[in-house]
Amino acid sequence: MPLRTVTLLGATGSVGRSVRDIVSENPERLAIRTVVGGQDAAALAQVAIETGASFAALADEAGGPALREALTGTGIASGAGRTAVLEAVARPADIVVSAISGAAGLEATFAALLPGRTIALANKESLVCAGEAVMIRAAQVAARLLPLDSEHNALFQVLGAEPLSAVHSMTLTASGGPFRTWSAERIAAAGPEQALKHPNYTMGAKITVDSASMMNKGLELIEARFLFGLEADQLDVLVHPQQIVHGLVTFRDGSVSAGMALPDMRVAAAHCLGIDGRLDAPPARFLDLATSAPLSFERPDLDRFPALGLAIAALREGGAMPAVLNAANEVAVAAFLTGRLRFTGIPALVEAVCAAMPVTREAPRDIAAALAVDQDSRRRAASLLSQAPFTAT
Ligand SMILES: NC(=O)c1ccc[n+]([C@@H]2O[C@H](COP(=O)([O-])OP(=O)(O)OC[C@H]3O[C@@H](n4cnc5c(N)ncnc54)[C@H](OP(=O)(O)O)[C@@H]3O)[C@@H](O)[C@H]2O)c1
Repeated sequence: MPLRTVTLLGATGSVGRSVRDIVSENPERLAIRTVVGGQDAAALAQVAIETGASFAALADEAGGPALREALTGTGIASGAGRTAVLEAVARPADIVVSAISGAAGLEATFAALLPGRTIALANKESLVCAGEAVMIRAAQVAARLLPLDSEHNALFQVLGAEPLSAVHSMTLTASGGPFRTWSAERIAAAGPEQALKHPNYTMGAKITVDSASMMNKGLELIEARFLFGLEADQLDVLVHPQQIVHGLVTFRDGSVSAGMALPDMRVAAAHCLGIDGRLDAPPARFLDLATSAPLSFERPDLDRFPALGLAIAALREGGAMPAVLNAANEVAVAAFLTGRLRFTGIPALVEAVCAAMPVTREAPRDIAAALAVDQDSRRRAASLLSQAPFTAT
């Protein structure tokens, strides 16, 4: 197998860590050449040195001098700011891993869709905010889009070569998050410390809070809609606390196939990075069903987890609504994490922003249109945040 070169967007994050683990386990098959980070120059410099990358780009322009200084004498070139990130994305690579968090990853992900490229997509916001535009561009340039989100990765693998017309429906599983068994009153009083305790995964703060509210599963439903080209009513969620089954495909004839693995992002990362020939996993990453906890499944409770209901409504509404929902949620989660909003304020703010937007807005046709909806919605969310009832924490 020839060596495959990798560009890692979001290299210092949690998905970035999983990808780096897989690359370092397979040095004869994979090499990271380019790394991109957000604001943390020291962390990015360290990752660039550890991975042996030849170029590092930081999104935050102000961090450029610190990054350059930290890389002095290493021979690793660096840049900072939007242009540097786009330069990093344009550099030759067999696989680009899109693992920047939030709508901030939109532009780089879109720019990564170049002819012949393979994109391993963790940044679900690209599909939530600009699903049609991303899928059309990928098809136009014949870029291969691989889902790195574990549920979508499982569904992708289960689907295999089956045509879409063979599929009756797809089910994404959810852990239920740290509040799965909590009463509505207890959830209402939860702070960041409780929300940041995911039962199975260590992830970035934003997605961990989204898992606690179950907004993450709603965003994933929207992601799946575009990725697989399904109708909204063909997508479903089941709460499955053990997170062994990640996705289920129900075929037209009633057959159901499950995608299973240990709850470890490195499994999905290994599948994407080994798309042209499976990579070997260490023994600890193999699933032993005989010793795992009994598998259980239940319907999500939309009364205690209204964020999921809002996302399902945006999925059905379509157009620009998923982008509005995502932007409002990003503002709400940031406010929750800094103590400006209660946990129950997250869905309340999202609902208020969605209700305030004109429902007729078309789905963004390009990244500029998606970013315009994103910015509009953020402004609306920030303005509502400074008004009652959101000012009462
Ligand atoms: N974590 C998981 O297990 C998991 C699973 C499935 C999907 N995902 C998705 O994967 C994405 C990343 O999640 P994560 O948990 O890895 O997040 P994370 O740990 O917070 O890491 C985010 C990464 O993105 C970088 N970043 C932030 N803003 C940026 C910008 N404007 N430009 C360039 N880079 C920027 C960060 O760098 P700095 O730290 O320097 O800002 C960091 O490297 C999200 O879309 C998430 O929904 C995550």
